This record gives sequence, C-alpha cells and structure tokens, in this order.
Amino acid sequence: MRTKTIAGNWKMNKDFLQTEELIDELKKALSFDLKGVKVIICPPFTSLELAHRLIHGSAIELGAQNMHHEDEGAFTGEVSPTMLKAVGCKYVILGHSERRQYFHESDAFINKKVKKAIAAGLTSIVCFGETLDQREKNITAQVVTAQVRGVLEDIAAENVERLILAYEPVWAIGTGRNATPQQAEEVHVLVRKLLGEMYTASTAERVIIQYGGSVKPENAAELLWQPNVDGALVGGACLKADSFAGIIKAAAR
Ligand code: 13P
Repeated sequence: MRTKTIAGNWKMNKDFLQTEELIDELKKALSFDLKGVKVIICPPFTSLELAHRLIHGSAIELGAQNMHHEDEGAFTGEVSPTMLKAVGCKYVILGHSERRQYFHESDAFINKKVKKAIAAGLTSIVCFGETLDQREKNITAQVVTAQVRGVLEDIAAENVERLILAYEPVWAIGTGRNATPQQAEEVHVLVRKLLGEMYTASTAERVIIQYGGSVKPENAAELLWQPNVDGALVGGACLKADSFAGIIKAAAR
C-alpha cells in the first residue's frame, strides 16, 4: 500500500517572517485526521532551519528544493546534502523542470544528485515531465521514458523503492491548466510499467509517483484517487494554508 504523499514546493517564495506566518496557519488548518497522509513542505533554503523548529511535534515533514552533489567545497552559491540534513531535511526535490529549464540541469546531472541524496540518507522527490511542444508532437512517452531512465541510471532497486517520483507536465505548471486525471494516470501507468521493466514488478508497485501541475483543492480528489497517482507536488496552492490543507484533505478521504 503506497502512502498518499503531498509535498508543497514553495519555490522562491516566503521570507523568514512569511514562513512563520504560513506554517502557523498550516498547523491550524491541519487539525483534521490526516489518515496516514504524508505531508511535506519544501521552503527556500533561508527558511529551512526556522521551518524545522516550527513543525516540531506536528505531522509536517521538511524538504529542500535542490542540493549540490558534493558534501563541501568550492561551489559558490550551492548547498550540500549534509547541510540540508543538519537543518532537519528528510527530503529534497531534484530535477524540477524550472531547474532543467533555467539552470540547464540534465538527466545525467540530476542522476548524480539522486545518487548523492541516497548516500546521504535523504529521500529525493525526482521530477520529470514533457513540454507542451513534446505533448503536441505525441512524444510524451519517449520523453518521459528517457528522463526516468536517465535520472535512475545505475541506481539499485532497493534504493529506487525509497524514492518519490513526480510527474510534472511542464505545460501544467503554474498555468492553471492541470493534466486531466486520465492524462496523469496514463503517464503514471507508463512509468510504473517502465519501473517494472527496469527492476521488478514488486519494486514498481512500491514507488510513490506524485502528480504536479496546477493541483488545487477543486481538482485534487479526482487526480489523487487515480489508481497510480500516489500524491501531489503542489506549487502555487501550497502558499495558502487553506488551499494546501484542502488538497491534503482530498488525499485523506
Ligand atoms: P503549480 O502547482 O503552481 O502548477 O506548480 C507545480 C510545481 O511545479 C510543483 O513543483
């Protein structure tokens, strides 16, 4: 049984004071029975330590939005897995499409980070997904297959089982236009089959595959209750406590 997992990717939003405000509101908004739903927030680096203190004793867990693949060294502007662990992170988003697009991260580079996260004991939330152009050219399956194979290269089954994958069609991110539940399910089935080919059927059954892209309280239930959709990676809607809580409630149904 895969645990429904809802992660909030705050992206480059919320300073120190705003972080405190949002987490306070979120803790209040999450006063209902979570029914085993996993809730993760991924604030910017500058808010991680504060967030860690504020979520203490609650059901909320902490993740970062990126990391470097070395533990330390001359990498100006970067943050290492050990640094993330030291401020209480258990998760790290890797290979988000915004990092692929604006910072030219390749599957091979993301693969290095995923391997490092495994070695460091962090759970990666590894993103992949096609652009609108690729969907319109009918090459979604090829694009997604290449990305998943690339980011998971040389990673053993027992480690893959502990990862979270996140299917985020680029055309659905921040556009208000979510994939239909059928479109999401179709890609999730494809990825699970691929994992079955790359590893075993039982590994494929264990991997959590989130959907991300314009998830909101209004569309969460129908997306989250597709058989192969195991959670959501939420952008815009996680910046408001009520909206994020609404999505979590849909998962806890
Ligand atoms: P939106 O929910 O704002 O579309 O963003 C999705 C996303 O990129 C989460 O990582």
